Amino acid sequence: MSTPQEPHAPEGSIVAELEAMTPEQRAEREAEVAEVVAPDREIAVEVGDTLLQMENVTMRFGGLVALDDVSFDIRRGEILGLIGPNGAGKTTCFNALTGVYRPTSGRVLLEGAPLGRRQRFQITQLGIARTFQNIRLFSEMTALENVVVGTDARHKTSVMGALFRVPRHTREEKQAIERAMALLEFVGIADRAADKARNLPYGYQRRLEIARALATEPKLLCLDEPAAGFNPAEKDNLMGLIRKIRDDGYTVLLIEHDMRLVMGVTDRIVVLEFGKKIAEGLPAEIRDNPAVVAAYLGVPDDDDAS
Ligand SMILES: Nc1ncnc2c1ncn2[C@@H]1O[C@H](COP(=O)(O)OP(=O)(O)OP(=O)(O)O)[C@@H](O)[C@H]1O
Ligand SMILES: [Mg+2]
Repeated sequence: MSTPQEPHAPEGSIVAELEAMTPEQRAEREAEVAEVVAPDREIAVEVGDTLLQMENVTMRFGGLVALDDVSFDIRRGEILGLIGPNGAGKTTCFNALTGVYRPTSGRVLLEGAPLGRRQRFQITQLGIARTFQNIRLFSEMTALENVVVGTDARHKTSVMGALFRVPRHTREEKQAIERAMALLEFVGIADRAADKARNLPYGYQRRLEIARALATEPKLLCLDEPAAGFNPAEKDNLMGLIRKIRDDGYTVLLIEHDMRLVMGVTDRIVVLEFGKKIAEGLPAEIRDNPAVVAAYLGVPDDDDAS
């Protein structure tokens, strides 16, 4: 009752509550959580529709062509893998479709509408969220607060509301905390909700980034090497989470170096090499594609990606 976390986590008692539950009660609770996590998400849309299109995207940095006329579609409800050797342009692709960079030429369309000159926060509001290859969290904030910040991207009231404590703000704040707590539960780190992000184990930080991205209720979730630095067991766990996210109705774009993992979790794969798309297809097709095999030959397993 009088734990020090109380100001941050009025719902913090969920943790104690969970510990007291039977497995059946927990399962029921998980189903409820899934509801709270995404109350406003459209689930009536057709799975398999085109959600996002990269259309002839070229991205130059001075003389360097990081993306060279790249086109591919992302379909609703799939896990699309984006793979390729180091420096192939994968992260640049994320940056082009989240508004960090504006393509030198070509365009990105979300649900048929070009992203155009929109800013990053506007693109978040449209429904594209991402995590970063190098973890970016608010290290002095608690895990819960980091996720509440994510839900904030959707809020109607913000600074003004906070200043004057208008009723809607308090109500939204309460809902935001409730949702954030549910998200922490969803990604499996609710037990550390009240810890500062910087004090969390590395694997928890990676999951926290995912929870924060999910808090924006994205139509498309982009994960940039979420399993970097993980051991095989941790990787398997994370893949389980990514599958759970997809099964919950989200669309996922996944950059990952570990081929075993990519083959095991993705529905389709796009392969980049030196900024060009060299292949696209089902995991089995990609595995047997000579151009892909050649691109990876001599490239050691990436175990130092960070
Ligand atoms: N802001 C930038 N300015 C200049 N060059 C850049 C910039 N961002 C990326 N590049 C270059 O573009 C190329 C593609 O980089 P990118 O980070 O997209 O590769 P990647 O496929 O994500 O590689 P990794 O597997 O190592 O993460 C590289 O040659 C990189 O040095
Ligand atoms: Mg990268």
